[in-house]
Amino acid sequence: MAEHPTHRGRIRPAPENFLSEADIAAVKEGRRDFHRKAHIPASAAVAAPGLARAAEGDPNILTLPPWTTSLGQAVAARPYGLPSQYEKGLQRRESPGLTRMPQVSVAFTPLQGLFGIITPSGLHFERHHQGWSDIDPSRHRLMVHGTDEGFVKQPKVYTMDDILRLPPVSRMHFIECGANTGMEWGNVAVPTVQYSHGMLSCSEFTGVPLRLLLEDCGVDWKKAKYVLAEGADGSSMTRTIPIELVQSDEVLVAYGQNGEMLRPENGYPLRLVVPGVQGVSWVKWLRRIEVGDQPWATKDEAIHYIDLMPDGRHRQYTSTQECKSVITTPSGGQLLLDKGFYNISGLAWSGRGKIKRVDVSTDGGVNWRPARIEGPVLSKCLTRFNIDWAWDGKPAVLQSRAVDETGYVQPAYGQLRAVRGTKSIYHNNAIQSWKVVESGEVSNVQVL
Ligand code: MTE
Repeated sequence: MAEHPTHRGRIRPAPENFLSEADIAAVKEGRRDFHRKAHIPASAAVAAPGLARAAEGDPNILTLPPWTTSLGQAVAARPYGLPSQYEKGLQRRESPGLTRMPQVSVAFTPLQGLFGIITPSGLHFERHHQGWSDIDPSRHRLMVHGTDEGFVKQPKVYTMDDILRLPPVSRMHFIECGANTGMEWGNVAVPTVQYSHGMLSCSEFTGVPLRLLLEDCGVDWKKAKYVLAEGADGSSMTRTIPIELVQSDEVLVAYGQNGEMLRPENGYPLRLVVPGVQGVSWVKWLRRIEVGDQPWATKDEAIHYIDLMPDGRHRQYTSTQECKSVITTPSGGQLLLDKGFYNISGLAWSGRGKIKRVDVSTDGGVNWRPARIEGPVLSKCLTRFNIDWAWDGKPAVLQSRAVDETGYVQPAYGQLRAVRGTKSIYHNNAIQSWKVVESGEVSNVQVL
């Protein structure tokens, strides 16, 4: 550890915070030990800060609060639990003015306020092309058929009941929209990690491998080269999936998310899970699978979700989410209230497998130190990393750089732009930089 933990700095997370404006003002005025009275020797406070607070008469210790002196609420007072009222600031948020209609928009996950690797279902990001509906599962159907008769022997229509009877698997995976960090291709555009990287979430998904359903319909594996997945919403969302992904058993027809049924916003009652592949292919409210031998080049494959290259051409079907990482705290919009120890924490992921290592720089990429990887380290899943840092109160630039098991190293902005230019929307996996200035304010910057 860089310094004794009692010297740790305090942070005001954004947009939520645990400190009152008065507390923040006290720290900024230089009264750093605002929990303690001046007459207590600093050495005593460091040795036993809790005792020091009791000695000075902290009412939070000496006056018994109502929750200690009264009967609490009954069991099942909330049959479906909710977060504490003090956690209300942690919400998925829509970027103001991003789209013209809130039904055709994005709500970003508050990565800056989350721990570990699992995204609470209520904070999973949302991306809809035509709004979301709470579909009646008793009326939902999944049709599996071939482009012509040769692809599957027996086309079938499954009810939810049929699918729930099949043997399930549960797997933890990240989902990242191909457009995540898409606003930052040319320059810094958004202030916080919620908006720069929040089209990213990670859940345990439960469902049936799509391979099982295709076999149940008598698929001809020799003829089948692709499947088309179609959603039941009004957006005609259709995506081509290469058959090798289905054969690998990774693609799931999922109904479960974090131990319960999918949330309506995330595709209830059925969605496709396509690990490592950009979010658009994870078709929600899944109602049809067609087996064929050529990509369909649908509107969401020909006009959108294609990479505009510097020479004016487009790359199509670049679906894999390459290795990427981001420091989630300290991050843009937060305020370091004090010098001293900080835990730098972040997330790393790769659509090609497991994360091998993450290096962190606090000086804009001049020096790098290996971060501690916090297990579990799973394939195509978020990986949490942490590293100690003692902030000396001077300007700093925080960066993380991930390497996956294929040896691929997350690129700097200069390296990425040399190949991809600046006009693209999708697949920006550049190293993110957060600048810390002497006042402790943290902001989004780009380092080439
Ligand atoms: N499926 C349907 N049917 N309709 C949609 O609008 N959006 C896609 C994909 N599947 C979409 C869809 C996009 S672009 C993404 S990034 C992911 O769903 C987002 O999934 P989420 O809303 O569960 O985060």
